[in-house]
Amino acid sequence: MLFVQQVSCVIDDAMATGQLFSKTTQALFYNYKQLPIQRMLDFDFLCGRETPSVAGIINPGGDGFQKLFFGQEEIAIPVHSTVDAACAAHPTADVFINFASFRSAAASSLAALKQPTIRVVAIIAEGVPEADTKQLIAYARANNKVVIGPATVGGVQAGAFKIGDTAGTIDNIIQCKLYRPGSVGFVSKSGGMSNELYNTIARVTDGIYEGIAIGGDVFPGSTLSDHILRFNNIPQIKMMVVLGELGGRDEYSLVEALKQGKVTKPVVAWVSGTCATLFKSEVQFGHAGAKSGGELESAQAKNQALRDAGAVVPTSYEALETAIKETFEKLADEGKITPVKEVKPPQVPEDLNSAIKSGKVRAPTHIISTISDDRGEEPCYAGVPMSSIVERGYGVGDVISLLWFKRSLPRYCTQFIEICVMLCADHGPCVSGAHNTIVTARAGKDLVSSLVAGLLTIGPRFGGAVDDAARYFKDAYDRSLTPYEFVEGMKKKGIRVPGIGHRY
Ligand SMILES: CC(C)(COP(=O)(O)OP(=O)(O)OC[C@H]1O[C@@H](n2cnc3c(N)ncnc32)[C@H](O)[C@@H]1OP(=O)(O)O)[C@@H](O)C(=O)NCCC(=O)NCCS
Repeated sequence: MLFVQQVSCVIDDAMATGQLFSKTTQALFYNYKQLPIQRMLDFDFLCGRETPSVAGIINPGGDGFQKLFFGQEEIAIPVHSTVDAACAAHPTADVFINFASFRSAAASSLAALKQPTIRVVAIIAEGVPEADTKQLIAYARANNKVVIGPATVGGVQAGAFKIGDTAGTIDNIIQCKLYRPGSVGFVSKSGGMSNELYNTIARVTDGIYEGIAIGGDVFPGSTLSDHILRFNNIPQIKMMVVLGELGGRDEYSLVEALKQGKVTKPVVAWVSGTCATLFKSEVQFGHAGAKSGGELESAQAKNQALRDAGAVVPTSYEALETAIKETFEKLADEGKITPVKEVKPPQVPEDLNSAIKSGKVRAPTHIISTISDDRGEEPCYAGVPMSSIVERGYGVGDVISLLWFKRSLPRYCTQFIEICVMLCADHGPCVSGAHNTIVTARAGKDLVSSLVAGLLTIGPRFGGAVDDAARYFKDAYDRSLTPYEFVEGMKKKGIRVPGIGHRY
C-alpha cells in the first residue's frame, strides 16, 4: 500500500539502542519556567536520584542562577544566555527540554540538535510551523538524534527521569507509581491522555517502565512506531500500550512493523476518535493532526488494521483497561513478568506557603514592624489604612509623621517636615552652599558664619564654576588673549566658559 511507504518507520541508531534515559540523565531546560523544573526535581527526589535531572537553564538575556529545591535542600541551578554556553558548561547533559514559545522553538531546537552533546530534544510548544518541524526531523534523523514533540508534554522513565510537566502533580505521580519502574512501555499522541493511561496502567499492571507522548502535530519528531520498536529492544519492557488518535497514518507504520514480525512483545492498542463518524462534516479535534482526512485515517479503520496485524484492540475505550489487565495477567501467568518490588517513596517536602495556606504549619515572623502593618487586606501606617491616607490628601510630611513619630502630628509640623524634605531634595545635592547657609542660620549662627558655611561647600560638584572661571580667565589673561580669541578657543576645545552662565 502506498501510504505505508510514505509513513515508513525510520529508526535510527539512537532509537534502536532502546534506552533514551537513565537515573543519571541530566537535561538542559530552555526558557525558565519555575513550575515544570521544580516538578522534575521533586520527581528526582521521589525516585531517590543522587543528582538533579536539570543541570542548567537557558534563558536568553541573562546569566546567573535560579534557586530551586532538591528535596529539602535549596540548590542553585546555573542559568546561561545561549545554547552554546550551556552545552559547553554541562557536557554530560544530553537531553534538551525546550519550553520556548512556538515562535522560537524551532530555531532553539535546531541550535540544540547541532550540539554534539545533545542526543534528545523535547519540544513543548504547540503551533510550531510544520515546515520548520520537517527540517528538524530531517536534521535529527541524519544526525542520529531523537526529537519528542512538538506539542508534547514530554515523557517519563519511571524511577529515573521525567520531562517537564509529564504526569502532572506529585500526588498523581505517586498514584501512578511512576517513582519506580514497572514492565509496561506506553506511547500516545496526547499528553493529557497519557496522564489518564499512567493511572490506568498503574491500577491493572505492575506499572510503567517508560511513557512517551509524541505530541498532536501532523508531523511528530518521532512516531508511535519509532517508540514501540525502541521499547521492543528494552528487556525490562514486557508489553506495550499504544494510544493513537484519528487523523494521519502514523498507526499504519506500526501495523506494518507488526505484520513484519518486528514487534515481538504484546501490544495493546486503541485509536481514539471513533465518535468522528457521528458528525456529518469533517471535525478538527484538539490536536493539529486530529482530523479524519479520509476513511483510512478514521479511528475505526486504524483500530481494525491494528487488530488484523495482531495487536490486542478492544471494542471501545472503556474496554481498554480490561484488555491491558488481561494481557498483563497472561504474561504474569506465563512467568514472563517478574513481580516488581514495591518501594515506599519518600515524602516530598511541601512548600511553606502552601502548607501555611492549608493550615498545616505556622511559622514565626522574621521581622516585626511597629509602624507598618500588612497582615490584612490593606496595609496600614500606624493604624491608618493606606486608602484613607490618599483620601484625606495627606502629603509626604503626614506619612513621615505616621511612620516615624507613629502618630498624626498637627498640620504645622507636617508642613515643616515637608519644607525640610524639599530643602534637602532641591538644595542638598545641587545647591548645597545655599542649603548649608540656611542650616547654619537655623542653628542660630551670625550672618558671616552662615555665609562662610555656604562658601566652604563650593567644590567641583557645586559652585565649581567659580574656581574654574578663575582658572580659565587667569590663563587667558596670562596668555594675553582677546575676549574673542578666548571664547573661540574654549569653543574649539568643546568646553563651556564657566561663570558666565550657559549663554554663548
Ligand atoms: C510553550 C510555552 C511553554 C511557552 O511559554 P510562554 O509563556 O508562552 O512564552 P514566554 O512568555 O516564556 O515567551 C514568549 C516570548 O516573550 C519573550 N519574553 C518573555 N519574557 C520577556 C521579558 N521579560 N522581556 C522581553 N521578552 C520576554 C520571550 O523571549 C518569548 O519570545 P519569543 O516568542 O520570540 O521566543 C507555553 O506557551 C506553553 O506551555 N504552551 C502550551 C504547550 C502545550 O500545550 N503543549 C502540549 C502539551 S500536551
